[in-house]
Amino acid sequence: MKFSPVLLISAIFGSALADSITLPESLPNGSYLISVGADGKPTWTEVATANVTDTPKRDITPGSTSARLGKRFPWPSQTYPYCPGGDWFLLSDFYDHAWNAFYDSCYANGNHKFPQGTVFANYQGNAVAYMCAYSANPCSADEWVDAVNWVSSNCVGRSDGWMEPGYLHVPGWNKRYGYAKGGSSIC
Ligand SMILES: *[C@@H]1O[C@H](CO)[C@@H](O)[C@H](O)[C@H]1NC(C)=O
Ligand SMILES: *[C@@H]1O[C@H](CO)[C@@H](O)[C@H](O)[C@H]1NC(C)=O
Repeated sequence: MKFSPVLLISAIFGSALADSITLPESLPNGSYLISVGADGKPTWTEVATANVTDTPKRDITPGSTSARLGKRFPWPSQTYPYCPGGDWFLLSDFYDHAWNAFYDSCYANGNHKFPQGTVFANYQGNAVAYMCAYSANPCSADEWVDAVNWVSSNCVGRSDGWMEPGYLHVPGWNKRYGYAKGGSSIC
């Protein structure tokens, strides 16, 4: 049987990360590296809290289409935003807390590559901001900003202070940025 390179790659990463990782329902607010244990259940370690005081201020108006005008990333082709549905979470937990906490933690980790098959995540209340590393991958704060702007202008579900999950899939770089409620299946 002959595999196309694309199918082969997805087979490799598929086996590394299975189809999805089910996030722990709730964890104390903070940064975590999450992976799947031999039993298929998630395991996690806390990532030291970032001490970053020079975080640039960003316009992160939720769902703003003008946010897309600030797009600065030459994302590789085949990058796409996706609205997977699933449980909604508090908009404030995400935009007032998880967005920033993830940004700071991502920034503080610099060029550090998170291992293949892991999720770099930040829990704040019931919102989880995350990056899936389908191969060893660094987190980029600038990518995070642009990814959320793009996703949130596509996944626009909002109601009574709650918002729908979404992600930006970047197959060209074997990574994904997204946000979801604790307990969701991601990556
Ligand atoms: C964070 O950095 C500041 C400035 O270097 C320092 O004064 C403070 O003690 C640090 N806080 C922690 C928790 O490391
Ligand atoms: C965790 O973060 C959420 C969102 O900011 C906040 O409402 C909650 O009080 C925090 N929990 C603790 C124990 O600090």
